[in-house]
Amino acid sequence: MSDILTHTEDGILTITLNRVPKKNSLTAAMYTAISNALEAAQADPAVRVAVIQGHETIFSAGNDIGDFLKVPPSADSPVVRFLRVISSFPKPLIGAVCGVAVGVGTTLLLHCDLVYAGDNAAFSLPFVNLGLCPEAGSSYLLPRLMGHQRAAEALLLGDPFTAETALEVGLINRIVPPAEVHALAHRQAQRLAAKPLASLVASKRLMKQEQAAPVAARIEEEIAIFGRMLREPAAKEALTAFMENRRPDFSAL
Ligand code: COA
Repeated sequence: MSDILTHTEDGILTITLNRVPKKNSLTAAMYTAISNALEAAQADPAVRVAVIQGHETIFSAGNDIGDFLKVPPSADSPVVRFLRVISSFPKPLIGAVCGVAVGVGTTLLLHCDLVYAGDNAAFSLPFVNLGLCPEAGSSYLLPRLMGHQRAAEALLLGDPFTAETALEVGLINRIVPPAEVHALAHRQAQRLAAKPLASLVASKRLMKQEQAAPVAARIEEEIAIFGRMLREPAAKEALTAFMENRRPDFSAL
């Protein structure tokens, strides 16, 4: 079975992350599949809404760490295309999150219009712990969403945060039992799909007008720094340690 499942019905594109044994960590091929699906949905007037969901037990463990080590991202990498596509997707996008959402598993939610989460959801942005820096425009969007100090807890300390905190700071819309998250996201998608598409698209564009250019510029700036840091010793040690199932040793760095 494919690592990304896509299904379009009644004007709703549903993208399901389906690599559960690897905690839905995202490979280059998965980013490409999601980007292709979103671009096709953008061009297809019959599609009005997109939903991105994981599994009831896991949303995503972020970028595949083996991929990071093998092919650090550059400006034309599948992950960068994905960030450009999701951050500029013009139609409503709904996130449905159960379980852990690490790294890009959390930052992609900053580009969703509505996010529903299970009470088992846990969010974390361990970029600094991995010798990296934020991505997906999160260094711009997160401080504006939750305030600098709370964003610093998430991005500098790398402290995980709960669904309750995510709700309080405005990253998500509602918390429900995990078994109900996907159904709720789909009910909301159906409500949106029944509305006039041109009004949805114009409204979303107007709501995001001020941030569109700075977010696009920040995504490019972050990825240039992120790609460079991935080639440096701290990130190499942190990511290799994860793959070797041991604690990183930064003492010589
Ligand atoms: N990249 C590649 N493989 C990953 C992965 C990732 N980001 N996250 C998990 N996996 C793999 C593990 O290597 C393991 O593979 P194996 O069964 O072949 O040994 C499998 O998925 C299960 O992961 P495991 O760590 O045993 O599950 P867990 O329930 O104990 O922990 C997480 C789940 C998500 C908390 C933990 O896997 C984790 O911290 N992952 C890394 C997250 C991360 O740092 N992402 C990068 C952000 S930039």
